[in-house]
Amino acid sequence: MKPKNDPIDIYLKDLSEQFEIGPKDHKDFITAFQQEMARGLKKEQSSLKMISSFVKRPTGREKGRYLALDLGGTNFRVMAVELSGSRSFKVLSTSKYVIPKELMTGDGKLLFDFIASQLGSFLDEKRLSRAQAYGLGFTFSFPVAQTGVNSGRLIHWTKGFKAKGVEGNDVVAMLKDALQDQKIDCISVDALANDTVGTLMTKSYELTECYMGVILGTGTNACYPEEKSREGVIINTEWGNFNKFRSTIFDERLDQASHNKGEQLFEKAVSGMYLGEIFRLILADMAEKGLVQEAVNGGAYSMSGEDLSQIASREGLPLFKKIAGIVSSRSAKLAASAVASVLLWEDKNKKKERIVAIDGSLYEKYPGYRETMCSFLKDINVRFELAKDGSGIGAAIIAAVARGANDKGAKI
Ligand code: GLC
Repeated sequence: MKPKNDPIDIYLKDLSEQFEIGPKDHKDFITAFQQEMARGLKKEQSSLKMISSFVKRPTGREKGRYLALDLGGTNFRVMAVELSGSRSFKVLSTSKYVIPKELMTGDGKLLFDFIASQLGSFLDEKRLSRAQAYGLGFTFSFPVAQTGVNSGRLIHWTKGFKAKGVEGNDVVAMLKDALQDQKIDCISVDALANDTVGTLMTKSYELTECYMGVILGTGTNACYPEEKSREGVIINTEWGNFNKFRSTIFDERLDQASHNKGEQLFEKAVSGMYLGEIFRLILADMAEKGLVQEAVNGGAYSMSGEDLSQIASREGLPLFKKIAGIVSSRSAKLAASAVASVLLWEDKNKKKERIVAIDGSLYEKYPGYRETMCSFLKDINVRFELAKDGSGIGAAIIAAVARGANDKGAKI
């Protein structure tokens, strides 16, 4: 039998308290978040960028075949998508490419050259003739100051990307230049979108009533239509950078060791890229205090969100499970608080049923995650709809909207 004052139990109790998001934290979170939304919309100093996108919602009648390029994590994806013209679509083919680490952190031009060359290989592999013209939607899941439906400057990298010479530049122009250098002139980049917007567009193509787009994966973010500014313009909140919530010593340690210190604090507490690292930092602390024998083997980021998810779903490892539970349940509650903040921004009385298009491995795969989120949102009329791979498909839909492709012929 364990002694009553078992030091591990005491440590875990204290840890749970540090990571707990109680009703008061939830309320304070919403107040602070909405203040930051208001400031961001007014272009005042705010941790929420509140970026306008130049996207119109689809009618559901857009038709034709499009290419989609989805870049936002360690992989990028190319897809050929067929829109039926009647609220359904088919992914005709898809290829996933790993971005070599040195390209994520090296010269930005090389990153875009790599993407362009993989696009070329995609055309060849899928036997898509270069004699035809293809419309392409580009999902670029970083904070971008959009200047048009197919143009926008990268404000700064997030999620571990550091490639030089991209921040401040138009990412569509960089992609077009790279395509031109490789003599791929059959692709026209017709749309640029954030993954949250892509996710919202994908569900909006299928359902008329979709309200918000949320990503809970490697990174986290959301978009929604802002009724108070120009008619329903879709705002990319870039909520990953929100910083007015109660953090812990582990969040501070993680942030201090990161190369974007002080930025993306909400993302660093919530998203899949960081949960494993928070877990590792907790174990390292326990090892230092002599409570466990060994910390996690390997250095920073040697534990992934997926590793945590494995621990949560496997039998055994009660200590690891408990810590993983503390970290992931805070993530789910914080994510729920952010969703609540956006939903209550427009509908304070919580009356309207809101459909939220959502994608990302945390929501989709992490054991118990969505249940925790939903239990935290039980007094709000919200329905989550998983938009699997919505980010990329949505870019194809935006490209179709941009081309005004209602009832028009195939583009592939
Ligand atoms: C990061 C990016 C944001 C993106 C999110 C989810 O927060 O800054 O643009 O939407 O990750 O991929």
